[in-house]
Amino acid sequence: MLRGGVLNGLSRASGQRHRRLMSVWKDVPKGPEDAILGVTIAYNKDENPKKINLGVGAYRDDNGKPFVLSSVRAAEARIQSEKRPMEYLPVIGDKEFLSNSLKLAFTEDNEFLKNDLIASIQALSGTGACRLGAEFISRFHKSSTGMPLVLMPSPTWANHPGIFRDGGCEVGKYRYYDPDSCGFDLEGCVEDLKSAPVGSVVLLHACAHNPTGVDPTMDQWEVLSETIKRAGLLPFFDMAYQGFTSGSLDIDAGAVRKFVEDGHRVMLAQSFSKNFGLYGHRLGTLSMLTDSDKEKMAIESQLKILARTIWSNPPIQGSRIVNEVFKDNSFYNSWTEEMSRMANRIIDMRKQLSDKLVELKNPRDWSHITRQKGMFCYSGLSPAQVEAMKEQFSVYLISSGRISMAGVTSANVEHLATAMDAVTK
Ligand SMILES: Cc1ncc(COP(=O)(O)O)c(C=O)c1O
Repeated sequence: MLRGGVLNGLSRASGQRHRRLMSVWKDVPKGPEDAILGVTIAYNKDENPKKINLGVGAYRDDNGKPFVLSSVRAAEARIQSEKRPMEYLPVIGDKEFLSNSLKLAFTEDNEFLKNDLIASIQALSGTGACRLGAEFISRFHKSSTGMPLVLMPSPTWANHPGIFRDGGCEVGKYRYYDPDSCGFDLEGCVEDLKSAPVGSVVLLHACAHNPTGVDPTMDQWEVLSETIKRAGLLPFFDMAYQGFTSGSLDIDAGAVRKFVEDGHRVMLAQSFSKNFGLYGHRLGTLSMLTDSDKEKMAIESQLKILARTIWSNPPIQGSRIVNEVFKDNSFYNSWTEEMSRMANRIIDMRKQLSDKLVELKNPRDWSHITRQKGMFCYSGLSPAQVEAMKEQFSVYLISSGRISMAGVTSANVEHLATAMDAVTK
């Protein structure tokens, strides 16, 4: 029954008309809130001036403020001054942007790129690229079980299972995180991949694994590459943090490039949210290595059919910004410098946090804080400890103990270390 609110002030007759129409949705259950949203809501209500929000999934500067790169601002201003038209982009996206995106991931010298054998499409950021990839897999890549099957690390980005399931794939897991070492469970991972059905897709985080911050070393990637090849699996890389992890575009793309060298026909989802700070512009690419021009054309034709019914044409502004940055050397240099500054601020915060815990003589081994990479630190704090941090110190994070290092600053790191020390002693 509808009460007050919407119906207030309406005549009885029109009220009745509304009441009948709106009951259509009475059986829709309310879905659960996103865990991170809940953290932010609780944080916003807290009046403690020392409160810290470690749930955020976007970069913050050392003053805790969102950050727009100056190269992006300059490129935006140039585009604005040119008063370009705002017509639709082609369904496939902006060709110049796609070329820039592929060069960034695979390098200009890549043989597939030089021979025009990489199928690609502009997508609504990393999320959209993963979703389009899932839709494609569900139609064209069945595993030996007869179903399209995507195996993902345990744990993985909270959105991955839903993206791939809603995209029509079956979803499975492989072992990844070892809670004892707060590191990578290579043995468990290899064992699970070896027993996976042939033709399964293996979802891999190219760098800065979310939520654990645990990345395989290059030696471990070598083992994974060999295992995946022997088991007849297809690697799907999700690269949401290229350049934002170590500060180097090349280091962060190391695993993807290695798999390409090793002969895998990788699928790749790229995001420009973090490394360009283009979060709201929703800019990304889905690409796939192919073996012939015919294959490439066929794949792109299918990707266009998929995109056409989801978003039709991708947004225009983000790709223009990236193209401007790539065209102008001074913009490009300023971009890589600022990107690396963002990465290094996070690396520095990891060090400061870990040093402070040592200073406080906390008995735990916190070396994983600096070993882990990227925006997230899987602290190893239990749900009860996370709750105590909130109740006693106004430090907010999700119950898995994942800390967004982007929320740590020179001004709050001491308070954070004090809270972590107190709840773990
Ligand atoms: C692992 C991973 N993949 C993909 C994304 C997608 O982000 P976006 O859709 O903003 O590119 C994220 C963002 O948090 C992520 O952590």
